[in-house]
Amino acid sequence: ERKFFVGGNWKMNGTKSEIDGIVAFLKTGPLDSNVEVVVGVPSIYLTYVKNILPNNVSIAGQNTYKVAKGAFTGEISPAMLLDNGIPWVILGHSERRNIFGETDELVAEKVAHALESGLKVIACIGEKLEEREAGKTEEVVYRQTKAIADKIKSWDNVVVAYEPVWAIGTGKTATPQQAQEVHAQLRAWFSKNVNASVAQNVRIIYGGSVTAGNAKDLAKEKDIDGFLVGGASLKPEFVQIVNAKK
Ligand code: 13P
Repeated sequence: ERKFFVGGNWKMNGTKSEIDGIVAFLKTGPLDSNVEVVVGVPSIYLTYVKNILPNNVSIAGQNTYKVAKGAFTGEISPAMLLDNGIPWVILGHSERRNIFGETDELVAEKVAHALESGLKVIACIGEKLEEREAGKTEEVVYRQTKAIADKIKSWDNVVVAYEPVWAIGTGKTATPQQAQEVHAQLRAWFSKNVNASVAQNVRIIYGGSVTAGNAKDLAKEKDIDGFLVGGASLKPEFVQIVNAKK
């Protein structure tokens, strides 16, 4: 039984006063206790948030580098997150890949180093619109997943986030059928290329314009194990998304 997982990716948003508002609605909830809830917070606010977050919500960084320390101006490492009591990191988000030029190879190295350091990882994959229209969705998500699989020893501490780029921040959510199709293809890929137990146990969550209005229908699909929520994670409707299975 895969525990339903809902991540809120705040991206580069929030002031202390806005964060206080988000933490207030997370505290009020109530959040379904059968759901693992994690918020992805800008680095500068990680400690601030950690100190005020209710203990039924966990916390993630939004990026870490592929080594523990050194001359890498502007970067932070998994060791630094752990030193501050932050257990999770989001890696390979499409904004990191497409705006900041992160390759499959770099994302995979970051995932491997984060896991070896002891972080848990939300690893993001997903095709662009032109790739979907060219019939390349499977090829792209398999390529992105294989790059990671080639570098890691265990998927126990990984949640895979399937986020079609055309659905992110666009209001064009994948239909439950579109998302389910890719999630099932990914599970089949894991079965063939990793093993049956990983295929059975790894959580594959969906991201891209998830709202309180579409979360319930998406959550009914058998291979959708939760969500990675951007814009709506800054709003009180995030509570309804967490509770989509109820
Ligand atoms: P939106 O929910 O704003 O579309 O963002 C999705 C996302 O990128 C989460 O990581």
